[in-house]
Amino acid sequence: MPDAPENLLVPLRTILAPLVLAELFAQPQPLEVELGCGDASFLAEYARCNPEKNFIGVERLLGRLQKLDKKGRRLGLKNVRGVRIESAYFLQYLLPAHAASALHIYFPDPWPKKKHRRHRLVNDAFPALARAALAPGGTVFLRTDDADYFQQMNEVFGAADFFEPAETPAALAEITTDFERDFNAQWIPTLHAAFQLRTMA
Ligand SMILES: C[S@@+](CC[C@H](N)C(=O)[O-])C[C@H]1O[C@@H](n2cnc3c(N)ncnc32)[C@H](O)[C@@H]1O
Repeated sequence: MPDAPENLLVPLRTILAPLVLAELFAQPQPLEVELGCGDASFLAEYARCNPEKNFIGVERLLGRLQKLDKKGRRLGLKNVRGVRIESAYFLQYLLPAHAASALHIYFPDPWPKKKHRRHRLVNDAFPALARAALAPGGTVFLRTDDADYFQQMNEVFGAADFFEPAETPAALAEITTDFERDFNAQWIPTLHAAFQLRTMA
């Protein structure tokens, strides 16, 4: 069993091979991943409320990820780690296949201009990437303030027959993200969706 790390950010020795999860966490427990975790307001609180699970926050901006380290250590969390890398790359190359029981994607960059939409994380290719990352019965939880992106999320998951719509548990919905709190304060509506891997007959 690894010692508790001094820093919750994972020092990547290589990005050419999947992470060895047993080296990251004190306990082998179900893993959930937040992609684009920002300042980890959500992830730190969610990890605190769920000590029976492990969590990885993925974020490309170091300054934001350092907040995960700060918050996690302040709370004494042993079940959360941060990885600084691009989200799709993380899913495709660093996360061992079928390792996550849930993916959380909250307020991903909306890329509102039509010519920039190809940069969106949740695109046509994403459900297949999520399926490879998720354990059987695993769920993708989504939140956004952008109606057009929300429609795209529903369309791409709706077109993937290996996912079916699911409910977001109230206890999960109650834990808000940093961006979500800003939207709530401005009375900007936010949209939630979840899609679960179908149990194929
Ligand atoms: C709008 S913010 C939302 C942050 C957080 N989820 C929240 O709701 O407070 C989007 C975050 O995703 C990160 N991000 C955007 N695209 C990313 C990508 N492809 N890979 C990793 N992080 C990304 C950004 O740096 C930013 O912190």
